[in-house]
Amino acid sequence: MDGRIALSNGVSQWITGSESRARVHRMRAEHDAVLVGVGTVLADDPLLTARTIPLPAKQPVRIVADSSLRTPPESRLVNSSGLGRVVLAAATEGARSSERYSDQAEVWQVSGHDGRVDPKRLIDRCAVEGINSIFVEGGGKLAASFVKAGLVNVIQWFRAPILIGGDGLPAIAALGLTEMANAPRWKSVSAERIGDDVLETYTVLTD
Ligand SMILES: NC(=O)c1ccc[n+]([C@@H]2O[C@H](COP(=O)([O-])OP(=O)(O)OC[C@H]3O[C@@H](n4cnc5c(N)ncnc54)[C@H](OP(=O)(O)O)[C@@H]3O)[C@@H](O)[C@H]2O)c1
Repeated sequence: MDGRIALSNGVSQWITGSESRARVHRMRAEHDAVLVGVGTVLADDPLLTARTIPLPAKQPVRIVADSSLRTPPESRLVNSSGLGRVVLAAATEGARSSERYSDQAEVWQVSGHDGRVDPKRLIDRCAVEGINSIFVEGGGKLAASFVKAGLVNVIQWFRAPILIGGDGLPAIAALGLTEMANAPRWKSVSAERIGDDVLETYTVLTD
């Protein structure tokens, strides 16, 4: 209810109900790629596959924004490359670090000015690879970067009847705004009840 996606210690399982989680798998299946920040990989060790019934004909490409390649080679993600493509979008140079992942994950260099993965360059690389729809699943820091860069056209989030409090991790991390006029505004498109949760959909308002 209060826009938090995890406790302050990173625990996020489970906030929403099983129907919402099943819907997330459908959302993954409907996109060419699923993207998370490395913070989510380190906290949750997720697979990020679309586990729908029946399974989708093709799994989305699973991408981690991971500037200095902190994704553990022993993670479930890296070790499930047999289920579909795994990409680590990095800002570091050098093939030596990518050797850690042998053939299990591709490493793309998409560095920005701040030594981090550059959202725009990552999108451009995706386009070159034929990846045209990207489901940014979190966490809050990565989501904030994409919102800030103006690269998000739809927000869909599940609001569960639970309070986590201000010490929890926010769905959208700091945007560094000082003027209300600069706050990105969204159009509320729908609110759908899913079990005990509500799935809210917003589209970006462009001027
Ligand atoms: N409830 C939910 O639906 C849900 C969904 C997803 C995640 N989560 C929770 O969210 C938490 C993780 O969220 P988080 O905000 O701490 O981490 P995050 O957004 O998953 O990852 C942040 C990290 O991504 C890397 N990164 C690379 N390029 C970036 C860029 N341009 N902008 C921002 N980050 C970039 C940075 O590490 P480097 O500098 O090392 O690259 C950064 O620290 C976990 O507890 C997870 O359980 C919850």
